[in-house]
Amino acid sequence: MMKKNVLLIGSSSLIGQAVLKNKKHKFTAPTSEKLDLSNRESIDTFDYKGYDCLIIVAGAGGRHGKTFGFKDKEVDLDYIANTVDVNCRGITMLLKKYLTQNPKGHVATIGSISVLEMKTKHAVYASTKVYLDRLIDLLANLYPETNFSKINPASVSSRFRPHNAKLISPDEVAKCVWTAIENNIKRIDIMDKTGQFH
Ligand SMILES: NC(=O)c1ccc[n+]([C@@H]2O[C@H](COP(=O)([O-])OP(=O)(O)OC[C@H]3O[C@@H](n4cnc5c(N)ncnc54)[C@H](OP(=O)(O)O)[C@@H]3O)[C@@H](O)[C@H]2O)c1
Repeated sequence: MMKKNVLLIGSSSLIGQAVLKNKKHKFTAPTSEKLDLSNRESIDTFDYKGYDCLIIVAGAGGRHGKTFGFKDKEVDLDYIANTVDVNCRGITMLLKKYLTQNPKGHVATIGSISVLEMKTKHAVYASTKVYLDRLIDLLANLYPETNFSKINPASVSSRFRPHNAKLISPDEVAKCVWTAIENNIKRIDIMDKTGQFH
């Protein structure tokens, strides 16, 4: 594959770190301080010029010990707002800005197996991933010269959950990201080893 100029969002996550290990490509990997998906101005002012490939690993609502199950007693509105803000509004704005500058090339997103399995208690998080999934399908029609790839993992080890044999490793997810990009694969589902879904 030709060397690509890749914009990677979410490089501090273990999946992001694993994606960065690919030495064939040139990466720009802004921190969430530099490009904050919950901040309109931050998304607006970032310079998106000159990329061949966008990889969106960033996402909110699945970690940090905060979850929202529909049957929970407490309703944490801040959690809901941040999850929707980052995963829906922020990523939509990011894609709009990016695709305006780079209407050709590749866009890869990390979704979740919950898009297919619908077994998670975390209704808001899973619903934002469904939103992203459908948004990518719609954009694939609007931008026929861009290749879109969706990677949907089940439970992955992360900064907040150390690796064990049941969890998918970040390296496995990164391998799927590159396989999808190199072969123009539209969707890769990485099935569950634990019985849990995220
Ligand atoms: N772990 C799983 O079991 C699992 C399963 C399926 C899918 N996924 C997906 O995989 C991706 C990585 O998840 P993870 O579990 O590894 O979680 P994580 O370690 O919490 O990583 C989340 C990433 O999103 C970034 N992020 C969060 N809020 C942001 C904001 N406002 N602006 C910009 N970046 C922001 C974080 O940056 P900071 O470090 O700066 O906060 C971090 O890089 C997510 O999209 C998640 O939904 C995870």
